[in-house]
Amino acid sequence: MPSVYIKTYGCQMNERDSEAVAAQLVAKGYSLAKSEATADVVLLNTCSVRDFAEQKAINKMQNIVGTARSEKRDQIVGFMGCMAQSRGQELIDKLPDVDLVLGTQKFHRAAEYLDELLAGTRKKIVDVAAEEKSEATIREHLLNGSAKTSVSAFVSIMQGCNQHCTFCIVPATRGEERSRTIPDIVAECRELVARGVREIILLGQIVTSFGKRDYPGLDGKSGFVQLLDAVHELDGLDRIRFTSPHPKGYGDDLVEAYARLPKLCESAHIPLQSGSDRILKLMHRGYSREKFLGIVGKLRRAKPGIGITTDIIVGFPGETEEDFELTLSLCREVQFDNAYIFKYSPRRDTPAAEMPDQVPQTIREERNERLLNLVNEIAAKKYDAFIGRQVEILVEGPSKKNAARYTGRTRCNRIVLFDGSTRHQGQLMEVKIERTGSFTLYGDPAVVNL
Ligand code: 5AD
Repeated sequence: MPSVYIKTYGCQMNERDSEAVAAQLVAKGYSLAKSEATADVVLLNTCSVRDFAEQKAINKMQNIVGTARSEKRDQIVGFMGCMAQSRGQELIDKLPDVDLVLGTQKFHRAAEYLDELLAGTRKKIVDVAAEEKSEATIREHLLNGSAKTSVSAFVSIMQGCNQHCTFCIVPATRGEERSRTIPDIVAECRELVARGVREIILLGQIVTSFGKRDYPGLDGKSGFVQLLDAVHELDGLDRIRFTSPHPKGYGDDLVEAYARLPKLCESAHIPLQSGSDRILKLMHRGYSREKFLGIVGKLRRAKPGIGITTDIIVGFPGETEEDFELTLSLCREVQFDNAYIFKYSPRRDTPAAEMPDQVPQTIREERNERLLNLVNEIAAKKYDAFIGRQVEILVEGPSKKNAARYTGRTRCNRIVLFDGSTRHQGQLMEVKIERTGSFTLYGDPAVVNL
């Protein structure tokens, strides 16, 4: 029985894709190896969003093939996912030991291709072609890498993105927007709930564009809100989350959904990218600073405790000190619970890579640090405000860093650590927050669950 090790880079969609490929391989008789050193097959599921992510995966592959060669081990190695899709054959030209390059629409063929490579009937396989209906092929689940049920599961609802932000490689790696059907998604969610899943995270590159073609507005509700309504009906499901949305998707229907649907958790990750209207326009984002502030205001009126996080790019071509200061001031105004900051990284075949006035690396780094300081200062204040409060958490399991501690999440998506045991796993419970660490809350369930 051949064994496989999959290492994942990048976003939650990639994690979900790796889970599905692992589940598919296990169903076909493969076992999961504990490490790359003991595996017959190693797959790197890659990310292309920034050059750094690509370099990490390439370096890792060089390491893997170098070690296998020096130890005279036969190992099948492959790239899959976004970088595989955007670079294709070029990856084998660069790293001739690579056997498989599997694009983002071909995950369902992983087992078939690996069987052929292991049997020696084919020597190299590159498949990055488009495939009809591939958005609906990612169905297998392997929850947390074992047969044991996890509390929370990712469900992919759509693939691709038509927004064409000028910095972004995703339309090239994930293709045009294609949505699954609502009944298909609900059926998958129902199976997961029957297996004990209590929280579902709906995934897509631009989830708020879900079903644009097939589910036109119904009673003022977008396709995405119709999907939220349908998933919300499932008995036994406690929580619904989603990622990533686009700010333009936060119409009144979605804002009202937060107020109307108790299972929809009060957290929103809304990518801002910049606080300057001039830069937003160059990025082709389709909203203004004012519009973004309006969305945050509406959400906070609907759900005062909502946790709002964001993504911001610093050093986009043409970004001046004044533009950057507008991003700083917007962050002060919004008071994000957390923000992921990215230094602009030119991507191949994207319009921004060809724009004039590319910002020098030193300035990108300086802005990154200034923004990070501000974001962290605000985040720490927001975390401290939880001390002494009682919050509901969904317990996921033992903490990865310290197995004596258990970890759960608040509805607003903050991690809480507490002294727990297996009986807490999968439970919704109340904890009192005693203290905070960096991006962590420490809670005590004994105080409130006597
Ligand atoms: N350079 C830097 N950051 C990028 N992102 C996307 N493309 C780039 C790029 N070329 C960031 C955006 C996005 C997040 C997932 O990655 O902020 O929201």
